[in-house]
Amino acid sequence: MFERLDQIEGEALVAIAAATDEGVLRDLEVRFLGKKGALTEVMKGMRDVAPADKPKVGARVNEVRAAVEGAITTRRDALEGERIARLSADPDFDVSLPPFDVGRLGLEGRVGGVGALHPLTRVTAHIEDVFRAMGFLLLDYPEVESEFFNFDALNIPATHPARDMQDTFWVETPPGVDKQLLRTHTSTGQVRTMRAMKPPFRAIFPGRVFRYEEVDASHEHTFHQVEGLMIDRKVSVANLIYSMKTLLSEIFEREVTIRLRPGYFPFVEPGFELDIQCQVCGGKGCSVCKHSGWVELLPCGLVHPNVLRHGGLDPNEWQGWAFGLGLSRLVMMKYQIEDIRHLLGGDLRFIQQFE
Ligand code: PHE
Repeated sequence: MFERLDQIEGEALVAIAAATDEGVLRDLEVRFLGKKGALTEVMKGMRDVAPADKPKVGARVNEVRAAVEGAITTRRDALEGERIARLSADPDFDVSLPPFDVGRLGLEGRVGGVGALHPLTRVTAHIEDVFRAMGFLLLDYPEVESEFFNFDALNIPATHPARDMQDTFWVETPPGVDKQLLRTHTSTGQVRTMRAMKPPFRAIFPGRVFRYEEVDASHEHTFHQVEGLMIDRKVSVANLIYSMKTLLSEIFEREVTIRLRPGYFPFVEPGFELDIQCQVCGGKGCSVCKHSGWVELLPCGLVHPNVLRHGGLDPNEWQGWAFGLGLSRLVMMKYQIEDIRHLLGGDLRFIQQFE
């Protein structure tokens, strides 16, 4: 009995010391310590051992078991240490790699999620592509703006009732400093562009705009617009219609039918509201278009002479058209989003749907 135990111990320790990987160690564990392993076999022989000798044999069995277990643990730690040392010495191994790549190398780790672009970001990028292809510049203007560029320069003097059309967030400014506000529309860029560029030119300026609004399913205090402006010697409503049709057909990825209605904005003359045939019902009438078959999408018009003058341009020499495309409604139509509050709600599950 004791001889057999010595033999098992010797064999096990030699084999464990020679083990070169974790798999071999696990096999040895089964072979010597497992339910059908060598030590269990010995235990079965206990029946035939004289009662007086049983405690001694039992003690020796435990000793061998402890020795084999200890050797396996030691060897396992050593193998793991070697593996880490090998990785650290490898010049191609980068400890700063994301978990995915570390996992590939055999270290456990979690795979990070893949992000998605916000639908507003997607649509904005798409619009930028369409206009860039038509020779438009892409410009960017401040969100905190002077009263002048937001109103006065656009033919909306202080006493003009049109100021009430857009409820404004005013920024507190010390006395004597020009009044500042959060821009209520991207039209602030019109006169800024005229003053900065030599005509003829064409440009778009996308951005965030702000209005003091009660928030509900179709109103937000913060939303996105893309302003378009084209200045040339001869510019007509036909140019405007062509550009708008091209844009909308690209965005909706099909021919769209549009119509113009007169619309009033102090900075355009004539001014229009451009409607698009409802993309949900195809013009037959549904709840989205309030059963009219048309959805109001984009105000536009020919630039008012007073605005050209503020921009330093002679209205007898230069003409222009401008539009102000609201992105919220467009994005909601394109992706069939029923509530505007999803757009800036910050819920990642919403954005994840647009991967
Ligand atoms: N700036 C106007 C608005 O936000 C829209 C507009 C832009 C109208 C350009 C005409 C021309 O309501």
